[in-house]
Amino acid sequence: MAKADMDWKNIGFTYRQTEQRYVSDYKNGAWDNGRLTTDANVVLNECAGVLQYAQTVFEGLKAYTTEDGHIVTFRPDLNAKRMVDSAKRLEMPPFPEEQFIEAIEKVVAANADFVPPYGSGATLYIRPYMFGTNPVIGVKPADEYQFRVFVTPVGPYFSGGAKPITIRVCDYDRAAPHGTGHIKAGLNYAMSLYAIVDAHKQGFDENMYLDSATRTKVEETGGANFIFITRENKLVTPKSDTILPSITRRSLVHVAQEYLGMEVEEREVLFDEVKDFAECGLCGTAAVISPVGKIVDHGEEICFPSGMEKMGPVTKKLYDTLTGIQMGHIKAPDGWIKVIQ
Ligand SMILES: Cc1ncc(COP(=O)(O)O)c(C=O)c1O
Repeated sequence: MAKADMDWKNIGFTYRQTEQRYVSDYKNGAWDNGRLTTDANVVLNECAGVLQYAQTVFEGLKAYTTEDGHIVTFRPDLNAKRMVDSAKRLEMPPFPEEQFIEAIEKVVAANADFVPPYGSGATLYIRPYMFGTNPVIGVKPADEYQFRVFVTPVGPYFSGGAKPITIRVCDYDRAAPHGTGHIKAGLNYAMSLYAIVDAHKQGFDENMYLDSATRTKVEETGGANFIFITRENKLVTPKSDTILPSITRRSLVHVAQEYLGMEVEEREVLFDEVKDFAECGLCGTAAVISPVGKIVDHGEEICFPSGMEKMGPVTKKLYDTLTGIQMGHIKAPDGWIKVIQ
């Protein structure tokens, strides 16, 4: 197949329909074997569980082309596991992990001409998700579900270099103690929309959420975990039961310890300590790391010494090492890179 004719560097982050997607249905207590389809539309009963009570969970990962021309994905087994955890918390039947990986392989291979070429900075974004399909009017879990995976090519996250962003401490909460902050459920994102639209209106790029119980501890943003670098070059990252366990963050912790010989602390991080850190970044699949230059807390500014022009030096080392592993320049730990083609 010929590569799709696209301006890979400038396609942005929007949905572009590709040829094939994967569908599996859950009925009578079991998932079927799944199939590829060209039909991008989902037709549901008006009373489907997902439409009434938001019973839906999802994942996000990428396929990309390595320097030696392979199409690969990064640690999809962790997405499969996380989706099982998400499903269980919403009383949904977990989608089998092996079938999840097989589904991803099939969809990416079937849309190989939409995987951007090496060096373009663009990637193929993969979106697995599942939702309750049968009519549910009393508040209870659905009995039938659909699991789907579609892919869409997306442009480089940083088109003009990774410029540090400005974020604000948010007055709205993202997650409650013992709630659903640790899973990837649509409901967590629906309730973050008001806060992010408001942040953008006020001129901020993102929201920093604090723990809703005490509002003293750093949690995460609406779509990424935090990493901080101390003045002694230690990596510090918040540990909390109410944040999403980011696969990028877990990978960066390994990279810091095993590749860069850094000390790492995964622990509660008080907002009061943040002013003492040397560097700050947001980590997630989309950007790997977005550097944060400034945090504004109700008019009070915390400006990191790394400044507003470029990524801090330690953050940059972490970024270069992890992206080097992903692109095949640096040897990956066993099992991190899944070759599709
Ligand atoms: C709330 C939230 N936190 C963190 C992340 C980063 O997770 P990952 O590194 O697995 O993409 C994401 C994105 O998936 C997210 O939506």
